[in-house]
Amino acid sequence: MDNAAKAQTYQRVTKEILSVLAGEDNLTARMASVSCLLAGAFPHFYWTGFYVVDPTRKNELVVGPYQGTLGCLRIPFGTGVCGAAAASLETQIVEDVHAFPEHIACDVNTNSEIVVPVYDGSNRLIAVLDIDATEHGLFNEVDKTHLEALMKAVFSN
Ligand code: SME
Repeated sequence: MDNAAKAQTYQRVTKEILSVLAGEDNLTARMASVSCLLAGAFPHFYWTGFYVVDPTRKNELVVGPYQGTLGCLRIPFGTGVCGAAAASLETQIVEDVHAFPEHIACDVNTNSEIVVPVYDGSNRLIAVLDIDATEHGLFNEVDKTHLEALMKAVFSN
């Protein structure tokens, strides 16, 4: 998928997600619907979902709604790609996860990924969006721009 097709698909699925979620404020419902619609729009997304900040355990993420193969349950801040995104509050794009220090191999088929921090309306980190692919180098700035905007539109408003 080239960048133009990717951007077009993000624009279409963003509209779809916002329309489906209009009036729904439950976080689980929002995360489940985002995972489902993103995974459906991009068939090459192998694992699409959320790790949420666990309010009962300091600096730990716990698996939330997702589409894909079995995800590991808990990720400490600072560990793996999701943990790096949660600790740094920066989107992580990893072209080859096997070269990433302390990458958590939940599924051996994953080769590249993007992880985007998710904030609530008070600008508090509530989760990270994790998307994994079997291809190397699948994610780039186009994914980053659109996914950051989508997370803001869905969770920060
Ligand atoms: N890829 C993540 C772990 C979660 S799974 O891949 C579903 C990471 O290294 O943070």
